[in-house]
Amino acid sequence: MKILAIETSCDETAIAILEAEGGLKSPEFKVLGNTLVSQIDLHKEFGGVYPNLARREHAKNLVPILLTTLRQAFGESKYGLKPTQEMIEKIEKILTKEPDLYKLFSKEILEIDKPNIDSIAVTTGPGLEPALWVGIVFAEALGVLWDLPVYPVNHMEGHIYSPLLNLKEKLVFPALALLVSGGHTELVYIKNFGEYKIVGKTRDDAVGEAFDKVARLLDLPYPGGPKVSALAELHRSKNLVPTFSLPRPMINSKDLDFSFSGLKTSVLYKLKETGVNENIREEMSHEFEDSAVEVLISKTEQALEKYDTKTLIVAGGVSQNIHLQRELHKLADKFSGLDLLLPEKSLTTDNAVMIGISAYIQISGGKVINKLSTGNPERLKANGNLSF
Ligand code: KG4
Ligand code: ZN
Repeated sequence: MKILAIETSCDETAIAILEAEGGLKSPEFKVLGNTLVSQIDLHKEFGGVYPNLARREHAKNLVPILLTTLRQAFGESKYGLKPTQEMIEKIEKILTKEPDLYKLFSKEILEIDKPNIDSIAVTTGPGLEPALWVGIVFAEALGVLWDLPVYPVNHMEGHIYSPLLNLKEKLVFPALALLVSGGHTELVYIKNFGEYKIVGKTRDDAVGEAFDKVARLLDLPYPGGPKVSALAELHRSKNLVPTFSLPRPMINSKDLDFSFSGLKTSVLYKLKETGVNENIREEMSHEFEDSAVEVLISKTEQALEKYDTKTLIVAGGVSQNIHLQRELHKLADKFSGLDLLLPEKSLTTDNAVMIGISAYIQISGGKVINKLSTGNPERLKANGNLSF
């Protein structure tokens, strides 16, 4: 089946068209089209993501991105569709809060013949609600236009299944997922497709958020995670060892929870003593990254000891972190028979491919975990705090 997937939960506008087959037994995916526009440069100016700014950008980007993705998948779109007055009114109503998007939709999309697509998938949460809503109403409008079902997808479930794109062998359960992004730090135990239990989570900041905040304290531009990581690697490559140490928050707590806000505060206090210069940037990045990664690895190890696990999945933007990956491989080697799965680099950060994969799992019989909606386009709802 062919799935059109839409992702607008944060600062990336993304649409992908996937061909999926094999069911839950051996899901296989081919990406027919994939387009992503990042708003990073825009948000850089403000040092972070502003929900309404993100929403406006998504509204501007979705139509051109859809046209590009359709072209990649099927060649030039054919125009000739004559939507009924009733359909037009329905679409107008769905897009009533997005007048700019409605204008673009009327001009560019309304007469495109139904492409060879079977289902539409859209992220409904977690994320920034104004940003999520744009994607949702766009998906619904397309659903009405082309008479297609629209499936709600949990963004974090998307991250979990992102490594399935190129997986040669079967995904063996039970699995444990370490989800590390700008908004989440979670350990999720997965008994089977659709059966999730959060066994550990951050009590305050997400690890990606801590990377970004520390980057800001070091006067590095947003999003700072990759830059902090690059500076840490540079410091390591010089065989230098940090001359001070930061705390490893909650490393000895008896649970699998995390806390990263105190770590960021420790960085702030240390920088008050030292000031910010090139040397301290490298050394602080090194020590901060060591601390964050050590805690992530320690909690993941404790979870692996506690829960019988055949596959360890690590996903989300921070899974790109080289030091984390290095330590994860060492950790996985300690547990015989444990497979470590990481998404390919382009799928670590937000994208629509993972949303399509997750929808296929859902359609193929995995439990629908979004309790707010049922696939009925009239009932989709953004939920910024959607959980498992
Ligand atoms: O999954 P993602 O794209 O967005 C969310 O859904 O949050 O993750 C983005 C986060 C940002 O905080 C970014 O700084 C962080 O991932 N990140 C990294 C690295 N690459 C991205 N953090 C540390 N090291 C990296 N190499
Ligand atoms: Zn994400």
